[in-house]
Amino acid sequence: MDYRHLGRTGIRVSELSLGSWVTFKNQVDVKAAVEIMTAGYDAGVNFFDNAESYESGKSEEVMGAALKQLKWRRGSYLVSTKIYWGLHDGVNEKNTLNRKRLIEGINGSLERFQLEYVDILYCHRSDKTTPIEETVWAMHNIIEWGKAMYWGTSEWDADEIVKAIEIAEKHHLHKPITEQPQYNLFERTRFEKEYARVFKDYGYGSTIWSPLASGMLTGKYQNGIPKKSRGALKGYEWLHGRLTDKAKIAKVDSLGKIAGELGCSTAQLALAWCLKNPNVSTVITGATSVKQVQENMKAVEVVPELTPDVMNQIDKVFDVNKEEEEE
Ligand SMILES: NC(=O)c1ccc[n+]([C@@H]2O[C@H](COP(=O)([O-])OP(=O)(O)OC[C@H]3O[C@@H](n4cnc5c(N)ncnc54)[C@H](OP(=O)(O)O)[C@@H]3O)[C@@H](O)[C@H]2O)c1
Repeated sequence: MDYRHLGRTGIRVSELSLGSWVTFKNQVDVKAAVEIMTAGYDAGVNFFDNAESYESGKSEEVMGAALKQLKWRRGSYLVSTKIYWGLHDGVNEKNTLNRKRLIEGINGSLERFQLEYVDILYCHRSDKTTPIEETVWAMHNIIEWGKAMYWGTSEWDADEIVKAIEIAEKHHLHKPITEQPQYNLFERTRFEKEYARVFKDYGYGSTIWSPLASGMLTGKYQNGIPKKSRGALKGYEWLHGRLTDKAKIAKVDSLGKIAGELGCSTAQLALAWCLKNPNVSTVITGATSVKQVQENMKAVEVVPELTPDVMNQIDKVFDVNKEEEEE
């Protein structure tokens, strides 16, 4: 496992990391979380991602309970959480990055994790109604109080990221250091086009999500939705359309053939493809079993196999230009 600097900071993240969306509490209890996190940690993972909205805070509780059992040195790993959607319907408590909510939010997360601080605190989406100044000051204060080490954004517009950085620089405040965007073979445009300037001009980091498009890029949805899969979970029916999309299934089929020629699994090839991009600081993987973690962690070994010729073959399968025209 290699470690990449998270943007222009001194902190380094394992190139593959582990997140808890959908899985922890829903599919994975504390015992399984201990096993899954151990499999990642043993392979070199040092970054574990979470959010207050995941299973309404219960995902943080499961990860916190697992960390308590694991008794790892706090300096040996990084934990993150994210705030935006909130846990209650109050007018100041949902879909917001106001100062009160951010401060109450981090306090609640730390209580659920049973931790003194998180390493990265993200604004889970941008809030068009709260002035960015207010959010930047609140995040700065949270860092100054020692409740978070760094802060970042998730799915903010590039313009909003630049504005936040400029406000922080003007007032000598802690700047956001990393984005958390979706990036996978089906979802490339925002990462590769819109964010190009924040990577180049500001050295912004990226902790990318859904690298396997919720599991689709493993090839497990080629013959319908398996009973034991994310696609079959209650509450995730909104994924069905894309998991059964014939054009996407055909692309995964072709990707599987390239993987076969390289002697790796389709999942490993899809993850290695994300790792190949130097603007990716870490690929946040998700898993419901130790077996999946073990398979996914071996993706690092596939990266050297991705020659320009293989990358061209993959581009051709995913019809990059055609997708751009469609958008
Ligand atoms: N910032 C944001 O807005 C945002 C949004 C989404 C996610 N995230 C973060 O990104 C992390 C990763 O996202 P994700 O879970 O969507 O990642 P993903 O890699 O696209 O999907 C992970 C899921 O695919 C299946 N899977 C993984 N490896 C497999 C393998 N080798 N073989 C077969 N199936 C496999 C598992 O589901 P089943 O076994 O249930 O099929 C697993 O839970 C999240 O945990 C979260 O921390 C952030």
